[in-house]
Amino acid sequence: MWIKNCWYVAGFSAEIGQTLTARKFLNQAVILWRTSAGNVVIMEDRCPHRLVPLSLGTLVKDQVQCGYHGLRFDEKGACAHVPGQETLPKSCQVKLFPVAERHSLVWIWLGEADIADKALIPDLHWMDSPDWTVSRGYLRINADYRLLNDNLLDLSHETYVHKETIGSGAVADSPVTVTVDGGRVVRVHREMPNIDPPPLFALVLNHTGKINRWQVAIHMAPGINMTEAGVHPVETDRALAHIIRPLHLLTPETEHSTHYFWGVPRNFRLDDAELTVQLQKGVAHTFDEDRDFLEIQDRCLQAEGMPSIPQTAVKVDVGPVQGRRLLAALLQREKEDPRAVHPPVALADDSRVTMPPAL
Ligand SMILES: [Fe+2]
Repeated sequence: MWIKNCWYVAGFSAEIGQTLTARKFLNQAVILWRTSAGNVVIMEDRCPHRLVPLSLGTLVKDQVQCGYHGLRFDEKGACAHVPGQETLPKSCQVKLFPVAERHSLVWIWLGEADIADKALIPDLHWMDSPDWTVSRGYLRINADYRLLNDNLLDLSHETYVHKETIGSGAVADSPVTVTVDGGRVVRVHREMPNIDPPPLFALVLNHTGKINRWQVAIHMAPGINMTEAGVHPVETDRALAHIIRPLHLLTPETEHSTHYFWGVPRNFRLDDAELTVQLQKGVAHTFDEDRDFLEIQDRCLQAEGMPSIPQTAVKVDVGPVQGRRLLAALLQREKEDPRAVHPPVALADDSRVTMPPAL
């Protein structure tokens, strides 16, 4: 059910310090911590001695000390100390996972360790570029991560679910164009000319007159999503649009729960700290609304034995259906070759992005 040979987001760099953080990815329990030299370590959350979680222990001078009998393990996973004895059992080893830090994120590789190539990390430079300012957040959702991908590939729900922030009748009423790029990325494009700005856009634009709005839902299997949104007053040029590129970075926790790391980069009012907080709050509210629906949907699906969806396909399902097809193709590739990898492609192009003037 899960793609293994790819990098998944394991956390924000800023949240991993010299203390143990316990998380589960793809049903694999791990601990994350940072050495005094600054390297992030991800190891199995399991003491090889008595099999209790190492997360019940503590970090002692760059070694993880098991909370049960005090055995210690170094950053390579090797046993470094056994209380009451001199010799160290060589076979007593904690499993390590390949880890990387890029774009202010910590990444984990859960597939074949010797093919974990950092060149396969998706380009998410918007998360730490000086040309963009980012609002960030995290949400844990008790739903199958594929339902989150479906949600992000069919944004017509904004009209009904997100009325208080980004939704308006124009979203569901505007047709979409769907393209598939390089067998890796689905794009669902929608234009909404000459509309009243939904509340969150009125706030970020500081403008309540008519706007032109577009959005592109971009999905790269298994769990990288961007929702490019461009808005500008109807009397101004599209080339000077205010652009936000929300990134929705999904890592399955279990079959029915998902880590949702998100960042909302914008190309305007870069130094406006108050706007960063306002966007953070507005987006968090929006994603809480998604969570409510997704958790109910997951429970309904489980109660019905996980039937395939949609039961009735309508036009806006084209994006999610294409997303599921890409995922199925990657899964098939790994089934045929357990060492297959899936090179990422570019999500969006910055070459035509210009910082817009303040309104
Ligand atoms: Fe939503």
